[in-house]
Amino acid sequence: MAEHPAYPVGLRLTGRRVVVLGGGQVAQRRLPALIAAGADVLLVSPGATPSVEAMADAGEIRWERRPYADGDLADAWYALIATSDPEANAAASAEAERHRVWCVRSDDADLATAWTPATGHSEGVTVAVLTTDARGRDPRRTAAIRDAVVEGLRDGTLVAPHHRTRTAGVALVGGGPGDPDLITVRGRRLLAEADVVIADRLGPRDLLAELPPHVEVIDAAKIPYGRFMAQEAINNALIEHAKQGKAVVRLKGGDPYVFGRGMEELQALAEAGIPCTVVPGISSSISVPGAAGIPVTHRGVAHEFTVVSGHVAPDDERSLVDWPALARLTGTLVILMGVDKIGKIAETLIAHGRSPDTPVALVQEGTTAAQRRVDATLATVAATVAAEEVRPPAVIVVGEVVHVGPRSAE
Ligand SMILES: C[S@@+](CC[C@H](N)C(=O)[O-])C[C@H]1O[C@@H](n2cnc3c(N)ncnc32)[C@H](O)[C@@H]1O
Repeated sequence: MAEHPAYPVGLRLTGRRVVVLGGGQVAQRRLPALIAAGADVLLVSPGATPSVEAMADAGEIRWERRPYADGDLADAWYALIATSDPEANAAASAEAERHRVWCVRSDDADLATAWTPATGHSEGVTVAVLTTDARGRDPRRTAAIRDAVVEGLRDGTLVAPHHRTRTAGVALVGGGPGDPDLITVRGRRLLAEADVVIADRLGPRDLLAELPPHVEVIDAAKIPYGRFMAQEAINNALIEHAKQGKAVVRLKGGDPYVFGRGMEELQALAEAGIPCTVVPGISSSISVPGAAGIPVTHRGVAHEFTVVSGHVAPDDERSLVDWPALARLTGTLVILMGVDKIGKIAETLIAHGRSPDTPVALVQEGTTAAQRRVDATLATVAATVAAEEVRPPAVIVVGEVVHVGPRSAE
């Protein structure tokens, strides 16, 4: 049977009976795709892994708790034979042959009438990789080829020009805190498709160096804004480039909607009739403390974390933050844009009840090669920031979580 290559095909299983024999690891790996394909899955097995059991409990599959019996495959369109009993596997395989049911065998690919390819998905395309004969089967190789193709399609390094749907208009992409590996897969793909990238100082600047030469990279801080406010000038630049039919990426640090003015840009684009897609990013408010070994919550220590902007002092009339209320909370306070005003902020927190001994950590340029962590308390933080010359960008963490991890976790 294995002398000829397998004939690849996509089975449309919606509502069709698929019988799975054996509820172990193989079933656990294969069932999600069968469920996603809409198959009417019958599992026959005396036992099952907790994950498989959960699928049965959720009603995603029907589970008959017993060993295989002749006749189980009579109504099946497709079967997966994966019990730990070689005799049952052989008997089920023979039954499948009798009923002309395509069947996969986890114990012997050579005796199977069907093979499961290594599969992956990217933008409406399923990539399925099979080796040409059973003897040459090497699951690690097929998985590696699948990964390479899917990853290439996702990040744009594998370009299929005739099939690629470029995202029209502007993509507001959250680039994460700075480490180029911490952008999302979708963000990276959109970046690879861009004609124009308008980037902030924060975020994964290293990714810009990877862009092909034809891509116009604009530093948002350098857009001339004359009589406009800087943000209006950025909005206008986005609109102008998109109107020229270019694929524009607005690359922002962290997440576009966390102190990122993402919604202002989206609104300006909507008013100009430009389609806009927003790609979330990993916000520095959680990831930067994490990169320095500080969890923003910890069981028994902090059941809440509050993220605030410290760009204006607590006594500034423009401040929208209720600092006295924050001082009464016992959980973690994460302050962004707060380096300049940390003295006033610490004073206010202490004045409204937070202990002066509350631990504080400042994490500067988190997730980048220049990352540095400086520790203090609410009482000492202002002096420490001055003495240690802590500079923005930094995330300031206030609360007992600062002490829960080993400093070596940085
Ligand atoms: C305008 S806010 C943008 C926040 C961003 N949208 C986010 O979700 O992370 C800029 C502030 O984020 C913080 N920040 C961003 N990236 C950082 C990094 N890599 N290290 C430390 N702080 C960072 C700093 O507090 C900085 O002043």
